[in-house]
Amino acid sequence: LGTPAAGAAPDVTNIAHRGASHDAPENTLVAMRLGARMRADLVEIDVQRTKDGHLVLMHDTTLARTTDVEQVFPTRAPWKIADFTLAEIKRLDAGSWKNPTFAGERVPTLPEFLRALAPLRVGLLLEAKAPELYPGIEREIARQVGAWPSWRGRVQVQSFNWPWIKAYRALVPKAVLGVLGTPRAEELAEIARYSDQVNPPHASATAEYIAAVHKHGMKANVWTVDSADLMRTLISRKADGIITNRPDVLRDL
Ligand code: G3P
Ligand code: CA
Repeated sequence: LGTPAAGAAPDVTNIAHRGASHDAPENTLVAMRLGARMRADLVEIDVQRTKDGHLVLMHDTTLARTTDVEQVFPTRAPWKIADFTLAEIKRLDAGSWKNPTFAGERVPTLPEFLRALAPLRVGLLLEAKAPELYPGIEREIARQVGAWPSWRGRVQVQSFNWPWIKAYRALVPKAVLGVLGTPRAEELAEIARYSDQVNPPHASATAEYIAAVHKHGMKANVWTVDSADLMRTLISRKADGIITNRPDVLRDL
């Protein structure tokens, strides 16, 4: 097949962090559709669980920063997701905090996300956020994602909770999995027994660190990188993927 022409684009996975969250409210369907339209390879979502057992897209463990929950339910501080039913969460506006043009945007459930994005052919990087708060959430994620044949081969799962990723591997042996953070060099061999990726913050993603991850047969998707200069630097350090709020900037590189 020959070698790529000089100057050819390297094969870097473009991952839209919480969707195209520079331009649209994070973890909403509008941000996910925009990420796909900007030609991200994957959209990244954060998944947690409501009081009545529904999986929803939300980064923080409370609803306060990215919805109007403090106005709608003023007596329910500290507004933990786990203390609200889905019906209550569906009353919240998850768009106005970003910009009034997004007023009325709702917190999506994982099934709503899977249904809405299935036809767009984008992949999914699903972060289980604080899974230690939601016992058994791995079985629900595996079941809900697995219920969609059209998503087969397009889903990756990551978490800062490494034992949880190890448990997910036992549950779904063929899953594509990543640990978030910066394991020490001497921890990489053990992590490689159950993870396909180590996904570090850019501050720790030196060329040497990425090479060490590669040496153990894993990939490195680096976060969260919005400047073109830093994207170029990480590409030169051989990052496999870049997790960005601005997938359009990475696409244009
Ligand atoms: O995908 C990497 C990144 O999402 C991890 O950090 O806090 O944005 O979930 P955070
Ligand atoms: Ca995340």
